[in-house]
Amino acid sequence: MHNTPYTDPESAHNLTFYLDDEMSMLDLGNRMANFLRPGLTLFLYGNLGAGKTTLARGILHGLGYRHVVKSPTYNLVEIYKISRLYLYHFDFYRFNDPLEWEEAGFREYFNPASICIVEWPEKAEDLLPMADLQITIKIHDKGRSIEIRGRTELGKQCLQQWNNQEIS
Ligand SMILES: Nc1ncnc2c1ncn2[C@@H]1O[C@H](COP(=O)(O)OP(=O)(O)OP(=O)(O)O)[C@@H](O)[C@H]1O
Ligand SMILES: [Mg+2]
Repeated sequence: MHNTPYTDPESAHNLTFYLDDEMSMLDLGNRMANFLRPGLTLFLYGNLGAGKTTLARGILHGLGYRHVVKSPTYNLVEIYKISRLYLYHFDFYRFNDPLEWEEAGFREYFNPASICIVEWPEKAEDLLPMADLQITIKIHDKGRSIEIRGRTELGKQCLQQWNNQEIS
């Protein structure tokens, strides 16, 4: 696994990796978990089968969750409580009814005490708050590339901290 050279200060808020296989995607999620904090919202972009759920699984394991991490595709959200932290894993692929958003009270899930990971954010764009970290996964012949961008002050701080560790 490698990441890009850091040529300008903005690149501290932008990390890219190439991941050969599922194991390295899980490992990246694991490492990423060290830099996540309550209040963060992560948007995961990428085609069907890109590896979004795999990354979320790695993050959850990195945060200490020891059970099976299912894809939330059929019920839009899976809820995890890891000691005092709430993590909400959304998948909006099948989302098409804004009323469902209201009825489920999703708005309250995005709060300073919880972490939200969102697959297919583009399907609920008008309703979602802004992402702190925007993650884009691309499929290659073998493996995946992934770009992680800090979009808010909080998101940038996390990436800066991660970046400092990666190059030290
Ligand atoms: N870095 C990688 N290299 C090769 N294969 C990978 C990599 N990461 C994940 N995969 C594989 O890609 C497949 C799809 O992964 P995953 O279910 O995480 O995709 P997804 O983006 O969540 O898809 P969906 O949009 O359907 O929810 C899995 O078989 C997984 O093993
Ligand atoms: Mg998925």
